[in-house]
Amino acid sequence: MEITLTRPDDWHLHLRDGEQLKAVVAYSAARFGRAIIMPNLQPPLTTVDAAHAYRERILQALPAASDFQPLMTLYLTDRTTPAEIERAAQSEHVHAVKLYPAGATTHSDSGVTDIRHTMPALEKMAELDIPLLTHGEVTRPDVDMFDREKVFIDEVLAPLLQRLPELRVVMEHITTADAAAFVRDGRHRLGATMTPQHLLYNRNALFQGGLRPHMFCLPVLKRERHRAALIDAATSGHPSFFLGTDSAPHPRHAKESDCGCAGIFSAHAAIELYAEVFEQAGALERLEGFASHHGADFYGLPRNTDTITLRADPWQVPATLPMGKDTLVPLRAADTVRWRLVGEDR
Ligand code: NCD
Ligand code: ZN
Repeated sequence: MEITLTRPDDWHLHLRDGEQLKAVVAYSAARFGRAIIMPNLQPPLTTVDAAHAYRERILQALPAASDFQPLMTLYLTDRTTPAEIERAAQSEHVHAVKLYPAGATTHSDSGVTDIRHTMPALEKMAELDIPLLTHGEVTRPDVDMFDREKVFIDEVLAPLLQRLPELRVVMEHITTADAAAFVRDGRHRLGATMTPQHLLYNRNALFQGGLRPHMFCLPVLKRERHRAALIDAATSGHPSFFLGTDSAPHPRHAKESDCGCAGIFSAHAAIELYAEVFEQAGALERLEGFASHHGADFYGLPRNTDTITLRADPWQVPATLPMGKDTLVPLRAADTVRWRLVGEDR
């Protein structure tokens, strides 16, 4: 069996930099037309100039014939100025601004300590229609790790949407039934990305026969009930839900460690894994909307005009992949993926 769909885009991707960037970018470029590139480098990309320079490095790292387009983002801090937001609006390459609550995840030390500090920037974003992408988790120590997303919605996101009704917002990598319902029933200009791991696995995967560092990402995997709600949302055809892998490569030693990094690498099999989710849900015909239409429509960008083809033809993922001088352990390492990317029609 084969399926052909409009070339998909990845609306949430970590590509890193230098040798690591060179090692991973081709996987995304083989599958996706465009990707929203996360700005959590070290140091973070807080200016349009820095985002432009990073874009050039990504283009340099691409395979020769590739026309993959990196769509750049800025990293919001307590000190982001309205003037920088104006520069972003004038740039044809910067498409969004990313909110990391301070301490929420990998490389978020420069993140926002209190959303109130960012109001001048957020007001300017609402005025100029630049989307805010949220890592939607609070980081207070009294909030349980598994409740961080729901508390973020109640305490941060809902009040923000009330205060700035024009602001376009994407809740990134949603993980709970609460977030799915909030986006589904929510207002115009609110979207959500979903990762392959949160659609395929529940939190048991973190402890399957022992501690599994390669299944650790943030927001952390949740209960089965939440996974079921995410699948319902993704396969519903609702235009607010779209593909964002959150593929986040880390060297193997940084994950298999006393204090292992958060992040799952899925770029090597991303659209293939989503196809598995949609097939299992009996909704393969909805994959194209989720993967190739809804995100572009949300961002006001044209849909891709070329296609990719997937064939039901299981293949084995390598146990490791090269990552500069290191290796990384990809999602489904040494295990099978049911769909295979076969054709590219450009
Ligand atoms: C991401 C990373 O490694 O950069 N990690 C992750 O677990 N998703 C950061 C992020 O998106 O939270
Ligand atoms: Zn991410």
